[in-house]
Amino acid sequence: MESSDLKKIIQGIPKAELHMHLEGSLEPELMFEIAGRNDITLEYDSIELLKEAYSFNNLQEFLDIYYTGAQVLIHEQDFFDLTWAYLTKVHSQNVVHVEVFFDPQTHTDRGIGFDVVINGIHRALEKAKTELHISYKLIMSYLRHLSEEAALQTLESSIPFKHWIDGVGLDSSERSNPPSKFVNVFEASAKHGYKLVAHAGEEGPASYIWEALDLLKVVRIDHGNRCLDDDALFQRIVEQKIPLTLCPLSNVALKVIDKMEDHPVATMLDKGIIATIHSDDPAYFGGYMNENYYETAKALNLTMNQLMQLAVNAFEASWLSQEAKEKQIDKVRNYFNLIS
Ligand code: ADE
Ligand code: ZN
Repeated sequence: MESSDLKKIIQGIPKAELHMHLEGSLEPELMFEIAGRNDITLEYDSIELLKEAYSFNNLQEFLDIYYTGAQVLIHEQDFFDLTWAYLTKVHSQNVVHVEVFFDPQTHTDRGIGFDVVINGIHRALEKAKTELHISYKLIMSYLRHLSEEAALQTLESSIPFKHWIDGVGLDSSERSNPPSKFVNVFEASAKHGYKLVAHAGEEGPASYIWEALDLLKVVRIDHGNRCLDDDALFQRIVEQKIPLTLCPLSNVALKVIDKMEDHPVATMLDKGIIATIHSDDPAYFGGYMNENYYETAKALNLTMNQLMQLAVNAFEASWLSQEAKEKQIDKVRNYFNLIS
């Protein structure tokens, strides 16, 4: 198939994004604009020089730059602009439902109020719901390189806003920061009614996926690539229908895999895993949802059925109501019927 035809098909698929860090959607242009109005001098003299720095050998090299970039975000309007820019971009790609992460500790540790962060994000999400008809859920992520005590304090800070937050996640440096470090804060988060997810098996071993399931009791695994190393684990993931939110361009950019042709998503679909595709940190890894679908489909020669399955899986794995899920899944199936 011509690449332009494949791109057109992907554009038309109604899509759900379930694994995207708002701080990771800060495009260099917006970073410079916000830095300018907040009187912050960036380490890089130009957008071009900043973009040149976006070359990573591993997760930690990326995180160092990502946390530095996020320091320009100070006022509620900054968090609004960040979130709104992401939402208008994915709206143009026919993304109709998002479940996005934010990292409060990246900001509260710099003296920014939790309220400042969440008010800006929430206002943009609500505007997108009304004006762009994008439904949404919001996930607060704990930084795993910090202590569980710090995560518990973050949980406390979130309570006045808990009607705006649907779930909690676990991200940042995976190696040497196993899920077992966060058992108490996940248990406490569940008691407050938050749904639970965690990054696991991105750079870390399959045993971290076991821990996320058994100790943290998560309902989805973010990444989870390494589950294929362990037969018993992937069988459990299939049997218990635990979705994996995969991020192909991220995996290539962070050298989790050598090249897109090695991505495990097609194997996972074949084995019956509820695999889904997302952008992780689109401003840093070279693409939003459409680019992730396109590069994966091209490299792995995905069939129309596999593409449809990916889109269906994302709604299936979402936290939409059963009724809303079925409505969106019908739209996906109708779309593929129409074009076949
Ligand atoms: N925070 C933002 N992107 C991340 C990733 N890919 N892995 C872990 N933490 C993250
Ligand atoms: Zn992520």
